[in-house]
Amino acid sequence: MTDGARDTADAHLIAVVGCGYVGLVTAVGLAEQGMRVRAFDVDPVRLAACRELRFPILEPGLEHAARLAGERLTFHDVHEEAWPDAAFTFIAVPTPQGEAGYPNLSMFRQVLMWIADGQSRASSENVIVVRSTVPPGTARWAQAEIQRLMGEAVPVVANPEFLQEGRALQDFREPSRILIGSENREAADRLRELMAFTSAPVVITDTSTAELAKYGSNAYLAMRISFANEMARLAEREGADPLVMLEAVGLDPRIGSRYLKPGVGYGGSCLPKDVAALVSMGSAVNEPMELMRATQEVNDLQRRRIIRTLADGLDGLDGRRVAVLGLAFKPGTNDVRDSPGLQIARELLTAGADVVTWDAAVTPDLLAANDAGLSITNDALEALRGADAAVLCTEWPEIVDLDLSRVAEVMEGTLLVDGRYAWDRSAASDAGLDLVRIGSPRVVDGTAATV
Ligand code: UDX
Repeated sequence: MTDGARDTADAHLIAVVGCGYVGLVTAVGLAEQGMRVRAFDVDPVRLAACRELRFPILEPGLEHAARLAGERLTFHDVHEEAWPDAAFTFIAVPTPQGEAGYPNLSMFRQVLMWIADGQSRASSENVIVVRSTVPPGTARWAQAEIQRLMGEAVPVVANPEFLQEGRALQDFREPSRILIGSENREAADRLRELMAFTSAPVVITDTSTAELAKYGSNAYLAMRISFANEMARLAEREGADPLVMLEAVGLDPRIGSRYLKPGVGYGGSCLPKDVAALVSMGSAVNEPMELMRATQEVNDLQRRRIIRTLADGLDGLDGRRVAVLGLAFKPGTNDVRDSPGLQIARELLTAGADVVTWDAAVTPDLLAANDAGLSITNDALEALRGADAAVLCTEWPEIVDLDLSRVAEVMEGTLLVDGRYAWDRSAASDAGLDLVRIGSPRVVDGTAATV
């Protein structure tokens, strides 16, 4: 960043509001590039941990990079400190799924109020950057709202992120693209200059286009996964190999092989929420989003299939001991938001099963109070001990690489449900285990229509 001739804004200071996944990675990523960053949050417990560089999220390299940034990165409580006169203020607060799938923007609104209430006056020298995923029109509305509250024209720029959990810092350093939506060209150029540390292609457009592109990107990934899941089910029925079939499809360079891995369905904090938001946005403007609805339906079906397969294979779930292997929504993270494994565990518990779980990163303190019925063991084999059946929900290497003959020794029953197409079929059958993948006709034959 260069020293601009700004009278008001501290040209060297960046504020990041929200110390969740997106905010922490943005704050650390910018501090690592030599910028002075103040990261803000509302949660004193989270802030205390962040100050000690014990981040609440599991993200490779993040704490190390924060340590190297030293005093350039500091953490602050929005209840104790006013908005600083930062050149850039990144808003990275959650926009969770609200009523009828529409994102809940209440935290986002509160940040605007906090900026407007600041002792320093924001002006056209300050740029507000929306990193949160927000519906089209939000940045434009925020700019009007700031103007209404402060009487100043402060540029609000949409700058969606495409960070994948587990490799988010790497994605920040080397993004696939920088997307800047702005009604103010000078503000867009300033943000582009700030991001000049990467050689990624830059798309500069209006705010609504940038905002919708973020939803489009996540929705397309979700749709591919549902496509892979639906095709894999049909392959099982036809006696075809789902993985080889999808590999062959993905080798077409027009298609590509990523996000075609079938399994228990997509989860996490973004894909399910963003697909639901598109369904809701479409119905608000009378534009039915049929592909998005089907994407959701296929995703839900995967989990129902697993429960049904277990119930059929065990002749009922009540009193059955089931090991759920994997609670994080994917390997490499401790995030359980919209996690297929956790949802399956909860449903099994509700159906009366005795549920024992294991995960490489999820610890009991990360679960909600109403998940107290789920026991988490320290070791995957321990979770399997005495189990009537087991279900693989997250492809952690520790689970995929389990010695299936040892698994057979410790389990009471023989049913393994592989929710990630990860275990070897012949190794399972050599061990005397009954391995069922999602959609396998052996257990659910004839029942698919009723699942
Ligand atoms: C996603 C987007 O990838 C990212 O660009 C955006 O910024 C946030 O949302 P993330 O939530 O970290 O990132 O998850 P991702 O790695 O995309 O996986 C999403 C889900 O899809 C996981 O549950 C994963 O297990 C599942 N998945 C992914 C599949 O089932 N099959 C695949 O082939 C790929």
